[in-house]
Amino acid sequence: METIVEVQDIHKAFGSLEVLKGASMPFEEGRITAIIGQSGTGKSVLIKTIIGVMDPDRGEVFFRGEEITTAPAERRREIRRNFGYLFQDSALFDSMSVYDNIAFPLVESLGMRDRKKIRAIVEEKLEWIGLPEVGRKMPAELSGGMRKRVGLARTLAARPEVLLFDEPTTGLDPVLAESINDLIVRVNEEFGITCILITHDIQATFRISNAIGFLYEGVIQEHGTPEELSRTSHPILRKFLTNSFADLGVAG
Ligand SMILES: Nc1ncnc2c1ncn2[C@@H]1O[C@H](COP(=O)(O)OP(=O)(O)OP(=O)(O)O)[C@@H](O)[C@H]1O
Ligand SMILES: [Mg+2]
Repeated sequence: METIVEVQDIHKAFGSLEVLKGASMPFEEGRITAIIGQSGTGKSVLIKTIIGVMDPDRGEVFFRGEEITTAPAERRREIRRNFGYLFQDSALFDSMSVYDNIAFPLVESLGMRDRKKIRAIVEEKLEWIGLPEVGRKMPAELSGGMRKRVGLARTLAARPEVLLFDEPTTGLDPVLAESINDLIVRVNEEFGITCILITHDIQATFRISNAIGFLYEGVIQEHGTPEELSRTSHPILRKFLTNSFADLGVAG
């Protein structure tokens, strides 16, 4: 299994607040890898350094062995085209129809001009997310779960090699959350896209991920398969997992 993305010794501080203090972790190609950890530990910051919307103070980010943070701006832009991301709020353009939202990366990032081709791809993506009828709607007319699906369709249209999800299921009811988790698995299996996700849903993480990293005190304390993590002797991770699964016991 090839490593497609790797972070090494990432440091990031905001003023006197040291958030990342040497986080390192590989992400294998074609796999689903999750980062878990308490709220405010720097999971989103770590993801932002990977996609390049935030520069680390120190440390390296590799894409297929090539260091990104020190690459020339032009090259960074080029490499970044391999990444797609889905943020918590889906970040759709509110003044554009669903159709135009999905067509946007085709025109802007891939430079496509052939309207028939664009239409075919948009329709295919809408079909794929199970919402073939919503192309003419505006984002404000959609439910939270539908917006999330459309956000995924738009990201997929740009054909990323790596897809990053920041809290894809937070704020959704359990049934919707389940359907988004299913879509992540399908994105991974049907298109072979490497998925990196951050989530509070530990139960789902253990079900759908091939690998999991635990971020605590600015460092990835442990990473491995769900099975390896469930056998951890790391006291904080044990406690974190016990609490997460105990919540589940109460709820279900
Ligand atoms: N641009 C920024 N400026 C200043 N502080 C920031 C900035 N971005 C993040 N932080 C701080 O860094 C810390 C880590 O934030 P981050 O969003 O990565 O946490 P998180 O692990 O994703 O938490 P959650 O699970 O709640 O999403 C927080 O204390 C946050 O306030
Ligand atoms: Mg976050």
